[in-house]
Amino acid sequence: MKKVKAIFALLMISTGTFAQSGTTAEAGLFDDPVLLFYITAGFLFVVALLVIAVALYMLQVLRYMAKDAAIARAKKLGIEYVEEPGWWTKFNLWVSDSVPVEKEETIMLDHNYDGIRELDNHLPPWWKWLLYGSIVWAVFYLIAYHVTNSLPLQTEEYNNEVAYAEEQVRKLKAENPGVVIDENTVILTTDAIALQDGKETFNNICASCHRVDGGGDIGPNLTDQYWIHGGSIQDVFKVVKNGVPNTNMVSWGGALSPEKMQNVSSYLLTLQGSNPPNAKAPEGDMYVPPAKKEVDSDTVKAQASL
Ligand code: HEC
Repeated sequence: MKKVKAIFALLMISTGTFAQSGTTAEAGLFDDPVLLFYITAGFLFVVALLVIAVALYMLQVLRYMAKDAAIARAKKLGIEYVEEPGWWTKFNLWVSDSVPVEKEETIMLDHNYDGIRELDNHLPPWWKWLLYGSIVWAVFYLIAYHVTNSLPLQTEEYNNEVAYAEEQVRKLKAENPGVVIDENTVILTTDAIALQDGKETFNNICASCHRVDGGGDIGPNLTDQYWIHGGSIQDVFKVVKNGVPNTNMVSWGGALSPEKMQNVSSYLLTLQGSNPPNAKAPEGDMYVPPAKKEVDSDTVKAQASL
């Protein structure tokens, strides 16, 4: 009885029952209910395994005793003891439907190729059922996917998933108005997918005036460091969004989403310094990105100290 009490007390301490009632605010290791659940479940699992192991062992002992009794009885009656095949042997026979080695002669074919002879064994039932099953499945598949079109094929499945994902994005954007892209929040993105999207937009609608390589035609050269309206991502975005009144550069704010405008602005800035042939002469003022300015002033300082 003393022992039981001690174990119980130990359990109480380990589950934090005492820790909670104590004055210290320190959390016990076992306060977490999930952890406690796992420990209890693990403990029960181990107990169950032990019970099963003992039960199997007892069963085996019982079988040996029964076998001994059967042998003794057979001896008494003066007959030979024949052991029943085990469940595994029976299962194997059923699943392969093969003729036992002892009866092989019954299925031997007449062919004799230099001593190599052939058995005409049954096809294994599991294999046959697999074949029948796949035939039934093929019929079902054909009807469901190609006749009634009641289930989606891969392309449709893919489109459904894309549509679902786009819907989620729309919802997320609607719920988080803080992430709206405008001339103040626009960033110079380096994301490959975004830049690819920007490139497509540029080639489709901007290239007619700025050329595919950005060298400039009706619109100015976008590959040099000279800008009429400034060369920062914010400046470029603003021009794309609002256009330039009384010029051919119209406002794209209505036709392109803010994200698309961010993408195309970021893309066209990747053309900086690409120096395409027959580019239009520079227009406007030189714009040096902030990072480069620092390098330049450092270079100047370094040169001055020489
Ligand atoms: C119909 C011809 C035309 C199309 C199409 C066009 N632009 Fe322009 N773009 C111009 C002209 C003209 C200017 C010069 C405006 C000015 O004189 O200030 C310009 C100016 C710009 C500037 C400012 C350049 C600077 O030096 O400050 C940017 C950036 C620009 N365009 C980007 C785009 C983008 C991006 C697109 C496609 C979404 C586009 N443009 C489509 C004609 C066009």
